[in-house]
Amino acid sequence: MAVLKKIRSRLFSSGAGHGEETDPEGEASAAGAAQDARWRYDVRPLTAAQLDECWRLDHRCFVDGEAYSRETFEYLLTSPESVSYRAVTPDGTMVGFIVGIVEPDQTGHITTLGVAPEHRRRGVARRMLLKVEEGFRRRGVRITRLEVRSVNAGAQDLYLKLGFAVTQRLPRYYSNGGDGLLMVKSIV
Ligand SMILES: CC(C)(COP(=O)(O)OP(=O)(O)OC[C@H]1O[C@@H](n2cnc3c(N)ncnc32)[C@H](O)[C@@H]1OP(=O)(O)O)[C@@H](O)C(=O)NCCC(=O)NCCS
Repeated sequence: MAVLKKIRSRLFSSGAGHGEETDPEGEASAAGAAQDARWRYDVRPLTAAQLDECWRLDHRCFVDGEAYSRETFEYLLTSPESVSYRAVTPDGTMVGFIVGIVEPDQTGHITTLGVAPEHRRRGVARRMLLKVEEGFRRRGVRITRLEVRSVNAGAQDLYLKLGFAVTQRLPRYYSNGGDGLLMVKSIV
């Protein structure tokens, strides 16, 4: 995720499955179907209307002290340049979010991305990333970028699989002194 104050001074100048195996027999099969139903996710636009729910989920996803403040989310989600989505379960519970911004240089910046721990490894982040790319393309974006902790191997694997490449190391990018990696993808 991006440390916004290092990238965008304007922000702070005034004050980002595996299906259940089908059991051919009776009860086990019904249980499998129920499980699959729970894993059916919708990807919908994320707006300021979901600010508090998103902020709470962010705190569950980023337990390293790098979660965004409520104000940062408010800024991002009310920006006209926001291209942001949420993943929801059939009952409407938000289990994932992705926040993208079209930057002044027309690059698409994915500032944060998170999936609730109990819904991970079911393709939710992948789907949200592809959705953001579609949204960016509609706005004429040709290059998308993001920052990721150098030690966050899982997230890097996700991005590499989707075609991102590491273009730069960002020494001490994070507030705890950890390095970041800048990853970039052409979405032409
Ligand atoms: C990183 C994160 C968003 C991934 O969400 P997710 O919905 O579990 O990811 P997906 O299921 O779409 O993963 C797709 C692929 O990415 C890779 N991947 C995702 N998480 C991984 C992990 N923890 N370890 C290794 N590879 C991982 C795998 O290749 C995976 O495919 P597979 O499950 O078939 O092996 C989620 O773990 C998370 O919220 N982490 C905490 C916040 C965070 O680090 N955000 C990113 C900041 S830059």
